[in-house]
Order: sequence, then C-alpha cells, then structure tokens
Amino acid sequence: MDPVRVNWQIKALLPVVLVLLAGLLLFTVATVSFRDPERHVILMVAGAGAVVICGVSIVALAYLFQRPMLELQEKVARIGEGNLDVAVSFSRRNDEIGDLGRNFNRMTQQLRESRKEIETMHRTQMSRAEHLATLGELATGLAHEIRNPLAGIAGVVEIIGRDLPATSPARDMVKDVRMEINQINRILTDLLETARPHPPLMMRSNLNTTVEHGVMLARQQVLSKPIKIELKKAPDLAEVEHDSDQIHQVLLNLLLNAVQAIDGAGTVRVEIGSRDDFASVTVSDTGRGIPEHLLPHIFRPFYTTRGNGTGLGLSLARRIVEEHHGLIGVTSQVGKGTAFEVLLPFNASVAQTEAS
Ligand SMILES: Nc1ncnc2c1ncn2[C@@H]1O[C@H](COP(=O)(O)OP(=O)(O)OP(=O)(O)O)[C@@H](O)[C@H]1O
Ligand SMILES: [Mg+2]
Repeated sequence: MDPVRVNWQIKALLPVVLVLLAGLLLFTVATVSFRDPERHVILMVAGAGAVVICGVSIVALAYLFQRPMLELQEKVARIGEGNLDVAVSFSRRNDEIGDLGRNFNRMTQQLRESRKEIETMHRTQMSRAEHLATLGELATGLAHEIRNPLAGIAGVVEIIGRDLPATSPARDMVKDVRMEINQINRILTDLLETARPHPPLMMRSNLNTTVEHGVMLARQQVLSKPIKIELKKAPDLAEVEHDSDQIHQVLLNLLLNAVQAIDGAGTVRVEIGSRDDFASVTVSDTGRGIPEHLLPHIFRPFYTTRGNGTGLGLSLARRIVEEHHGLIGVTSQVGKGTAFEVLLPFNASVAQTEAS
C-alpha cells in the first residue's frame, strides 16, 4: 500500500499552526480577567495576527522552496527526454538551495561533456570498424585468389618430385618447397577462418586420431631439424564430441609454435588424457619459453614476436576451443619451455546447456 501523500505546505505549516493555536489558547486563559468587549478585540487581533503569520510563512516558503523545486523537476524531466542543454536559474542564490542548483548545473555540464566524448569515440570506432571490415574483405578475397594457384603449384611440385631420380639433390629442394607451400596454406586457412568463422561441425569421434593426424603433419615439418615430436595416446579414452578439422588446426598451430620456439635440438611432447568431464591434450616443448609479462598477450589476434608470423595461430586456437565449450591454458618458464593444455568436454552439447 502506498503511504498517504501529504502536501509539503501542510507539513511545513502544521507545527506553526499548532504553536499559534497553543499561543491563542494561553492568551484566552490569560485574558479571562479582562472585561468582555476589550477581551474580544484583543483575541480578534491575536487571531488575525496568527492568520497573517501563517499566510506570510506560506508565501515565504513557496518563494524560497517551491519555485526552485518545480524548476528542478521540470529540468530533470527535460534531461529524461534526452535534452542535456538545461541549467537551473536558482544556482545564483547564496544558500543551500543555491548549492544544489550549482551542483545540478555542474552535473549537466559533465553529462554534456561525457556525451560528446562518447559520440566522438563511437564515430571513430565505427569508421575504424568499417576500415577493418574492408581490410578483412580484401584479405579474404586475396587469400582465396592465392589458394587456387597455390594448389596448382603444389600439384606441379609433387609431379616434379616424383619424376626426379632417387639420388637427385633437387629432391630436398622439392621437399622444402612443399613445406613452404604447406606453411602458406596454413596461414591462409587461419586468415580465412579468422575473417569468416564458421561454427564447429560436432561429431563424436576418437580424439587420438585427430591429434595423431596433427602430429604427423608437424613431424613432416621437422624432418630436417633435430627436433623430436613424441605422442602419448590414451587408448581407453571415450569418444569426444568435436569438429576434427578444427581441432586438428588447433593442434597444428600449437605444435608449430612449439617447434618454432626451439632453437637447435629439443623435444615436443603431446599427451592425451582426461580430467573429470574433459578430455585433455597437452603440448609441451623444451623451447625458449614465454616471459610472464607477455603471457596475457599471446592469445590476442595479430600478436606475434616472430618476424614472419601473423599472430593469428593462438587467437584462432582459443576461439575454436571456446566454441567447443572447452578451455585452453598455458604455463611457461623462460629457458625451460612451455606447455599448452587444451580441455574439451566429452559432451560439448551438455556443456553448452549447463553454461547457458
Ligand atoms: N610454445 C611457445 N613457446 C614460446 N613462445 C610461444 C609459444 N607459443 C606461442 N608463443 C608466443 O606467442 C606468440 C603468438 O603465437 P601465435 O601462434 O598466435 O602467432 P605466431 O606463431 O607468431 O604466428 P602464426 O599466425 O604464424 O601462428 C608467438 O609469436 C610467440 O611469441
Ligand atoms: Mg603460431
């Protein structure tokens, strides 16, 4: 139930009226001994005085308080309609009501400035977003254009390689060219997937096979290097709901990062296992490690410390893992190595319902 609304004039006047009535009562009692016509006049004068005091108080209160309150109410309503170009006139008064007016005017001034700032920021961000969108379109268009001739080049190189005698020194060169083509292809895939992501195509299948596929490809990349890639599978692992193409891409990106972090000889270890409701894949290396202050940046798109890197590998890996309702984490020690752990829920659809 709403409390009864009592007009402020009544609230302000009630104590005054009560005091005056009490005064009149006292006056009546005090003048009992007076003669009647005189007493009547005195009482009438006192009564009229009381009424005048009430009237003057009401006018004074209305002038001093009601007017500013009404103005304030009107200005607040205008702000509510979105008009911030308002100021109250009673801010010139030299009392507490004036303080209120000055504070109100200062507040609207600050609101105006903040709105202007937000509008400017919005405008620059919009034009930046448009600029990035155009660049993205350009990059993806270019990526498509490069991919087709690249597939042609890969085919020709394959044929040339096959036709070369087994002892020909050019075989190594052909192998290098094939590896470079694979690398360009991976960068183009990352770029296209970043610019035009598509939701994972979830299927329940063996995670060991997906990981093994990535390890095989990475091993081809390190044939000429003193780097060993070890794989420890989990034969009893239950099937994991995942998009094998996308998880393969995650694995390949982690493996290539690991390989690229090793100067000279080293080992990359891939281990499959499980933790509670998640299947886990750990990729650890004996590479140079990542300084602690850089760890928060490595998943950012376009963050790279490699001259020829695009910096898309880890940001894409994280996006794919998160779309699988999984987690990706990293621990690293400078000079000792880095370990990335990917956790994928066995039932991605259950994990999604629980999350939402
Ligand atoms: N295993 C690792 N050891 C050391 N540093 C790493 C490792 N993995 C990632 N990093 C650091 O994180 C950065 C970002 O990695 P990310 O894979 O996103 O991009 P990139 O490898 O530089 O380029 P690309 O787009 O070709 O993958 C790397 O440049 C590197 O500095
Ligand atoms: Mg990378």
